[in-house]
Amino acid sequence: MQSLRDALEDRMRAALAAVVGPEGRELDPLIRPTQDARFGDYQSNVALSLAKRLGEKPRDTAARLVAALALDDLTDPPEVSGPGFINFRFRPAFLAAQLAAIQADPRLGLAPVAEPQRVVVDFSSPNLAKEMHVGHVRSTIIGDCIARLLEHFGHTVLRLNHVGDWGTQFGMLIQHVRELQPHVLEDPEQLHIDDLEAFYVEAKRRFDSDPEFAVRARRAVVDLQSGDPMALEVWRAFCRESLRHCHEIYERLGVRLEDRGESFYNPYLPELVAELRARELAVDHDGAVCFFVEGWTNREGKPLPLMVQKSDGGYNYDTTDLAGIRHRTGVERAARIIYVTDIRQHQHFEMVFAGARKAGWAPPSVSLEHVGFGMILGVDGRPFRTRDGGTIKLKELLDEAIERAAARVAELREKDPERRPDTSPEADANIARIVGLGAVKYADLSHNVTSDYRFDWNTMLALEGNTAPYMLYAYARIRSIRRRAHPGNAGILPAPAQHVPGVDSPEIHSWELPPDLPILLEHPSEVALAKQLLHFVPTLRQVAVELRPHLLTDYLYGLSRAYSTFYDRERGVRIVDAEPESVRLSRLRLCDLTARTLKLGLELLGIGVLEQM
Ligand code: ARG
Repeated sequence: MQSLRDALEDRMRAALAAVVGPEGRELDPLIRPTQDARFGDYQSNVALSLAKRLGEKPRDTAARLVAALALDDLTDPPEVSGPGFINFRFRPAFLAAQLAAIQADPRLGLAPVAEPQRVVVDFSSPNLAKEMHVGHVRSTIIGDCIARLLEHFGHTVLRLNHVGDWGTQFGMLIQHVRELQPHVLEDPEQLHIDDLEAFYVEAKRRFDSDPEFAVRARRAVVDLQSGDPMALEVWRAFCRESLRHCHEIYERLGVRLEDRGESFYNPYLPELVAELRARELAVDHDGAVCFFVEGWTNREGKPLPLMVQKSDGGYNYDTTDLAGIRHRTGVERAARIIYVTDIRQHQHFEMVFAGARKAGWAPPSVSLEHVGFGMILGVDGRPFRTRDGGTIKLKELLDEAIERAAARVAELREKDPERRPDTSPEADANIARIVGLGAVKYADLSHNVTSDYRFDWNTMLALEGNTAPYMLYAYARIRSIRRRAHPGNAGILPAPAQHVPGVDSPEIHSWELPPDLPILLEHPSEVALAKQLLHFVPTLRQVAVELRPHLLTDYLYGLSRAYSTFYDRERGVRIVDAEPESVRLSRLRLCDLTARTLKLGLELLGIGVLEQM
């Protein structure tokens, strides 16, 4: 479906062509949402620049454009204001027709793209051998949201977990185990993540304090690289156990990821470096092999290269990421590759992207994008840590989220025992899980990706404001109207027994209202809600391009506010008991469309909904 703005732009271009001739079609009609609803919904200020070209007063140009505009079916007669702005206000009947056209569409007006792309989203990607901690949560949540959104558009998304499963930390671990935990060598399969964590801490301490151990640990890296069977076996056991732990967390978060760690690219590295040297793109430099890409300098102002091979012969992060791009474009045929990491890696990716372009491994048709995110801070604005300054384990963070949500849910129920029919312990546990995990995800996604944000349980679990509990509650409240609307009312059949998660479908979700209800928009709160509903698809389009999930949370929050007004006894309208029946059904349809939009929107954020809360 065309967005409201696109519809206006088309008509404006036709008017521009009428005023300045055929090239008018090529002009940007400069249509923006108005800041103030008194001036209507959208405003064009194209007359201001155009007037200069035509040598006339902007208000005259505006008047000529208005005269040439054929908009009667879309808007009220446009008005000229200020120095020559043209203001548009949509007609309720047009909005109603737009909504009526999507009411039977489970995708709410967003058709799958005609030409699906292959997209790689590289996210989560922790370094193995340590438990996942709070530093991994943003990449996991944001990456999953981006992947869900692009999948929803119909693209083929490869969700890659580019874990750090190679390098010095493994030499350190292998050597430590060899020396002090030899029983592990006898049966590496018995290894548990808790041991691994303890070994890591101990091995790191020894590595930093005992230079001789450090030498032995480095030698163990060489063993590993040269394929020593014992070293490989321990390494495999470490990775397997570490990944098992990661996937426990992913499963809990409802995140799907395919593991393809750094080691996957090992076989490609020697030929990659050899090729760069043969093509004279990389040169030997102090024993290392450097790939100079224009535009980067170090602190002393000297050219800063990608280092593709270290002086000890080892490869590093830059090399693997170059090989990654080459594989993803060449073998995976990706048209778009998206990396979600801490913003501090921005320069790394910019350089790797430039290198891949220069080497011809990423043709111009392939889009390389780094989504860099800010830090999570504690309530005090300092880096988020445990009370004694340690890193916060992700598993413990998620446990706490669910515990805290359970307390909130119990509070809610005490306040209003009537509200929720099902108060079984299973229902409670499910609600706590969805609210708790939803709160963590929503808090993360609702902040501008690049900004740091404060991790504050009280804010994210609040029932008021732009939070998951508020959104989930708004959804559940709408769904309860459905139950109230049902008894004894013709046209509404009994509720389906079970809510089915997954892609929305009209059968399970449309309240069994007829699929082609005439929508009637009379009250201002109805018109405002309709406009919000119609803004869903353009919002998704924008997020899919800009990769900024907070635009979607902002939108959903705006939608639920518009719904609150519509539902409010004073500012809004009657719904369940509205008369006549045509008005009642139309309002129930608006409720239904709001619920479906919230549900789909939350699903794209990776948050499940609750039918009761
Ligand atoms: N393992 C890296 C880290 O923990 C993130 C990897 C991101 N992906 C990539 N292709 N470099 O910082």
